[in-house]
Amino acid sequence: MPYTEIDIRTSIRPTVAEIDLGAVQRNLGRLRATIGPGVRVFGVVKADAYGHGAVPVARALEPLCHALAVSLVEEGLELRAAGVRAPILVLGAYYNRHQDEVIAERLTPVIYDRGELERFADAAKRLGRRVEVHLKLDTGMSRLGVAPGELPAILERVDNLPQVKLAGLCTHFASADVEDPAATEAALRTFQAALEAAGAARFSGVIRHAANSAAAVRFPAARLDAVRPGLALYGAMPSEVVRLAGLEATLALRSRIMAVREVAPGTGVSYGGTWRAPRPTRVATLPIGYADGYPRHIRQASVLVAGQRVPIIGVVCMDMLMIDATDLPESALSGPVTLIGRDGAAEITVDEVARWAGTINYEILCGISKRVPRVLRDAAATIPFARTSFSVTP
Ligand SMILES: Cc1ncc(COP(=O)(O)O)c(C=O)c1O
Repeated sequence: MPYTEIDIRTSIRPTVAEIDLGAVQRNLGRLRATIGPGVRVFGVVKADAYGHGAVPVARALEPLCHALAVSLVEEGLELRAAGVRAPILVLGAYYNRHQDEVIAERLTPVIYDRGELERFADAAKRLGRRVEVHLKLDTGMSRLGVAPGELPAILERVDNLPQVKLAGLCTHFASADVEDPAATEAALRTFQAALEAAGAARFSGVIRHAANSAAAVRFPAARLDAVRPGLALYGAMPSEVVRLAGLEATLALRSRIMAVREVAPGTGVSYGGTWRAPRPTRVATLPIGYADGYPRHIRQASVLVAGQRVPIIGVVCMDMLMIDATDLPESALSGPVTLIGRDGAAEITVDEVARWAGTINYEILCGISKRVPRVLRDAAATIPFARTSFSVTP
């Protein structure tokens, strides 16, 4: 068969990430059931939808969310080029000199300083357009956003820029997933006090939003007019402190064994020979490594083969890793290997891999590299709620 007729990315190496778009949709439904019907949802699909593939995830979420949210202009442009028509909020971009493109492609920029406000106003004027912007306040994250005290002056400036429409006001919480709620409650108070001080009445029709997944679930008062969940859509939560029952895993990482050898006791496995066989050992090699985003710094990690946990041995290489297959039946050696996901009754969650690697689940999901093909399952036809309005503005 000529190469043009087969997908070499999924038909040669068996290492793939299976993406369950139906589960993403159902997780959104689960979140909606918790936050209630009056709150808009901006589905966060930045960082390639947390490693799931921004375009397919955006297509699956588009009919179900009020807007999508990305971090970079580039990410918004990718979605527009793929035909995504929903409003797209650009959360934290370095806009450089691309304000015209942002406006032309109907991306909604979050503005976090006065200079950017002026640059968007100039661009809108040049294009003969009106640009809708969301303004970000820094309420304690110390990353992006204007100081609450600057709000009145900025609003006054916006009032004098007919080509700029303030469509949203937002902030971002630094600590919504830590045990002590005090920092989040204080940030919310700061946000609300800033709006009060600037004259709350003037914000009728301006969407106020602050909550990431953790805050959306844990702090009802922080839901405001809209929430911006990312991680919860992908079936995970940022810490043990926040739980949302019923979330489903959305990504499985699988491969197959490419080579098997029997080694004598004392034989080293992988670089540095740091792991030595304590007994006659059957070593199986998998075609996945840290270049695929499987973390090198895992400790005491395992994979699933034929529903059993099988330990990873030796250090993870760039393109391969080894497992101790001694106790596996011969028949299992030709079957699938699960690095993240379910195999029968057994499951390795992304949280577990993150623990083995000493990092957070976000980093594991976002780190699965572009070398790993994403294999999509169909978006479920069973969507438990109707299409909502299609505007980031009220
Ligand atoms: C500004 C902003 N809003 C929302 C989110 C979504 O956060 P989470 O994935 O924790 O729901 C992020 C992600 O880091 C963010 O940076």
